[in-house]
Amino acid sequence: MCGIVGYIGTQKASSIILEGLKRLEYRGYDSAGIAVQKNGRFDIAKKAGRVEGLIKGTAAQKFSGTTGMGHTRWATHGGVTDANAHPHLSSDGKFALIHNGIIENYESIKRFLLSKGYTFASETDTEVLCNLIAYHYQKEPAVEDASRFLESVRKALRHIEGAYGIAVMCADYPAEIVAARKGSPLILGVGDGEYMLASDVSAIISRTQNVVYLKDGEILHITVRNFSITTLDAADVSPVFDRVSWSIADADLNGHAHFMEKEIFEQPAALENTMRGRFSEDGSTANFGGLNISAVDFRHVDRFHFLACGSAWHACLVAEQLIERFARVPVEVDYASEFRYRNSPLERSALFFTFSQSGETIDTLAALREAKRKGYKVLAVNNVVGSTIARESDGGIYQHVGPEIGVASTKAFTSQLLIGAMLALYIGRMRDLSFSDGVEYVQALKGVPDLVRQVLAQAPHIKEIARRYAKFQDFLFLGRLSLFPVALEGALKLKEISYIHAEGYPAAEMKHGPIALISEQCPSVFFVPSGEMFSKVVSSMQEIKARKGRIIAVATEDCALPAGLADEIIRIPECHEAVLPIVATVPVQLLSYYIAVELQRDVDKPRNLAKSVTVE
Ligand code: F6R
Repeated sequence: MCGIVGYIGTQKASSIILEGLKRLEYRGYDSAGIAVQKNGRFDIAKKAGRVEGLIKGTAAQKFSGTTGMGHTRWATHGGVTDANAHPHLSSDGKFALIHNGIIENYESIKRFLLSKGYTFASETDTEVLCNLIAYHYQKEPAVEDASRFLESVRKALRHIEGAYGIAVMCADYPAEIVAARKGSPLILGVGDGEYMLASDVSAIISRTQNVVYLKDGEILHITVRNFSITTLDAADVSPVFDRVSWSIADADLNGHAHFMEKEIFEQPAALENTMRGRFSEDGSTANFGGLNISAVDFRHVDRFHFLACGSAWHACLVAEQLIERFARVPVEVDYASEFRYRNSPLERSALFFTFSQSGETIDTLAALREAKRKGYKVLAVNNVVGSTIARESDGGIYQHVGPEIGVASTKAFTSQLLIGAMLALYIGRMRDLSFSDGVEYVQALKGVPDLVRQVLAQAPHIKEIARRYAKFQDFLFLGRLSLFPVALEGALKLKEISYIHAEGYPAAEMKHGPIALISEQCPSVFFVPSGEMFSKVVSSMQEIKARKGRIIAVATEDCALPAGLADEIIRIPECHEAVLPIVATVPVQLLSYYIAVELQRDVDKPRNLAKSVTVE
């Protein structure tokens, strides 16, 4: 949730850290701070508000040291104040610490430390850990000098319950950083004569693409010359080096006003990348290289369980519809946060999938661990290579859409829809779906980037609608079958970036309650497909119109809507039902984006949200 960045090398650390913080800001933006080593003490600046405020309002850029670390915060314990911003110092001034996560037993540790004379300047759990490290450092000065700093961090961490990704500096060790993780991601970047530490590769890739992903329970000790990894029990760990495939251009705006806009318009290419190399030679089915499960075992699955949060959960709901329709295998979709506590009865031959763009969402990770604990295989649909979920799953499917930086998910969501459609084809071809139906399905999937391009070409028309509708305070999004989850996604997109209240419903359910909301002041966005659902959806639209509700229709080209029924029409191409949810999503992404821009919202960093939710 929060962002962590650290640097040890020969360059001025502050400039590199501040640039890294700007790239990480999408992880949390309540406050930001930086600490740089200076002659046995720390230069520190921290401030509530955005990274830009830290850069403009402080002397941070002038700090001259070559070892330092910075943090962007998403508040958990303690309000959004300068005092609660990280880094935190121990009361003796010897340690500076930044932290991502929640320390659950901080109150009892704080009581203990208060009894030993330690003082606290903030309300945070982080400061408690910082003082606990100082306590162990003072308590055991006998430890051999070179490792005293490292060992006091190790000792303190053994008393911690909860989740953390931390970086610590000690004033007595001017060119060293100790970092550790349990439940929150940390990555070491190995550059040319320098090391970087970050919670996210986007903070590193401007300097190096060579990385080592830290695992839970590992402690990293970085000095100017080298680094070592050990466990909490002090066992040595051999580092595994990886190379990040994303480039710095992937993480830049490239002329767009916002990352959300850039990522919406990147979707044709993103979808091509998701599909690349994933169709069989005979052109009748999908292939996935990393499932690590034989076709025979896959065919014997009686029920699939999909676990996810937020937009990824909506993608699972669409996948459920397509798999049940084309493969005739039951699918159960759970919110990951509910699954782990629900303890629902499970069949013996169930197979689990988690869907997560970041691969770090703590609820999804915890649900994965719960399913594995029960002895099930769990596969992951995931965008960030090397993420915790990717590493802890038994196999999976990478999305390959490049970094998604806008907090509201767009290209990652449509890519997950595509993977769901490909899974329905893959499983369907093992069962009922014929060769010719498979070939037709594959052709439809291959055509989706062009269909999305056609919808994107209507951006000016959608922008104009957004301009007229930005004044409304409530919206309904209504769709049926696989377009119902798209309605949920449309409502979520609108509320998270424009702060307008919106609800998604199955169109026919509207008359069982939400219709009470309808007035001239509450517009409805209807998804209208041709085919068997057309007349049903039109009836629902008429019920809205009869109550003076305004209607924006996202309708496929062949739908002959009764004159005057819709106030606005956004046409989308006729297409195969496997790709319809993807094509229908794009207009509501654009509508939400342009409404938020019209309202001058901070589109890429909506209030209270953070890109990757790594706390429960
Ligand atoms: C909404 C959004 C969130 C995420 C959710 C899961 O636009 O981005 O609802 O979909 O937090 O995140 P991941 O996919 O990273 O697990």
